Amino acid sequence: MSTLETTLTPSSSLEADAKTAANTPASTDANPRKVFVKTYGCQMNVYDSQRMADSLAAEGYVTTETPEDADLVLLNTCHIRERASEKLYSALGRLRKLKDKNAAKGKELTIGVAGCVAQAEGQEILRRAPSVDLVIGPQTYHRLPQALAKVRDGEKVVETEYALEDKFEHLPAPQREVVRKRGVSAFLTVQEGCDKFCTFCVVPYTRGSEVSRSVAQIVAEAEKLVAGGVREITLLGQNVNAWHGLGDDGREWGFGELLYRLAEVPELTRLRYTTSHPRDMDDALINAHRDLDILMPYLHLPVQAGSDRILKAMNRKHKSDDYRRLIERIREARPDMALSGDFIVGFPGETDQDFEDTMQLVRDVKYAQAYSFKYSSRPGTPGADLPDHVDEAVKDERLQRLQALLNEQQYAFQDSLVGKKTSVLIEKPGREEHQMVGRSPWLLPVIIDNNHDQIGDIIDVEIISTGTNSLVAKKLS
Ligand code: 5AD
Ligand code: SF4
Repeated sequence: MSTLETTLTPSSSLEADAKTAANTPASTDANPRKVFVKTYGCQMNVYDSQRMADSLAAEGYVTTETPEDADLVLLNTCHIRERASEKLYSALGRLRKLKDKNAAKGKELTIGVAGCVAQAEGQEILRRAPSVDLVIGPQTYHRLPQALAKVRDGEKVVETEYALEDKFEHLPAPQREVVRKRGVSAFLTVQEGCDKFCTFCVVPYTRGSEVSRSVAQIVAEAEKLVAGGVREITLLGQNVNAWHGLGDDGREWGFGELLYRLAEVPELTRLRYTTSHPRDMDDALINAHRDLDILMPYLHLPVQAGSDRILKAMNRKHKSDDYRRLIERIREARPDMALSGDFIVGFPGETDQDFEDTMQLVRDVKYAQAYSFKYSSRPGTPGADLPDHVDEAVKDERLQRLQALLNEQQYAFQDSLVGKKTSVLIEKPGREEHQMVGRSPWLLPVIIDNNHDQIGDIIDVEIISTGTNSLVAKKLS
């Protein structure tokens, strides 16, 4: 998956669950080693999978689309909710069988587990799934080639120590052909980790504390992507708007200033970013939305809940009215802003009234799209130890009601776009021969009856109707 998905269903921003489009160029080696990378979870994992594939490409690996064809399978895991790690263990069960089958034919299969479950469980993975050869956490991906060399020498390797060196300095940039194959829209991680410690969330434990990449590194990577044909970059971070660093002018910059700098990269036409915390939406960032045409009017700004009591118990450090006021200011700066969010229902102690407060907040804000989840207790987080866990049946009912409201708002938003004139970035051919698929400023895919434009072009269109999760448009000449 190379682009963000918008769905009406509860499927989350964290369940991309995609095979990585980590296409590597054809190797000159007649019999290259092949890697299959499966990505679970968020866009940050999609990006990491690509970077792992890039570092393996430098070692002569090519990517393959099936585990059956692979010499190395890497599962890039997500730990955010319980079901996610269960998915990993069932995938490992299937891979063990494949490994045995391959061994009977004299073919070796190396199995690696990366990502947040690798970081959180480390050795435990080898205990539960002894066919795994390698466990590697997100902070040590640059050591992947050395770790694989050790595996080839017969070792089982667990690499989950936080590295002192900067992994980004050591991860090779993708080759130009690879960038091209991945499409005109690319991810670029600018920040990792989280210091917020929301009481439901494992991220501060699996991804560590907040680290920002330098302006120079980010600009250089953006320029390389653009040179490879990328026109739209989505900046990534667990707390992307907490990014800060030393600017070109010698002053400390916040995320807003970084956006103004990236807007100067020649031939970059669109910028997006995800995921943000309301507390880090400062004036410079809001002004960037007012000033920068390159910055798309779509903002994923999770609030999680609408009850001040629950927000406090979640350690969100803002009240629901702070969020309402923030949204107002953002809409003043950018009136056509499409808002997205994350919600958790059934956090411990959530009463009917607390849940009604969440419903009211949703009614007040009006989302273009949103993700919503039942609270899932994560061992080691403070939320897990709170009293008054909510019954599953109550969570189910609340989730259904919330999703019905969010779906209604999503349809209303899509309908409001019909008749609008806008611009679309052409991304790929459509299903029908005469169609192209592009991306609207509000992230929704747009189907256009036209086959003359080039991938990467930005064309003017009028939205004529809506599909389930897409728009249909005609080109304006
Ligand atoms: N239970 C349910 N949802 C969670 N999220 C994070 N942790 C949990 C949990 N323990 C959701 C939050 C977050 C999104 C990425 O995942 O809504 O914003
Ligand atoms: Fe998790 Fe909260 Fe940090 Fe987001 S801000 S990653 S929800 S701890």
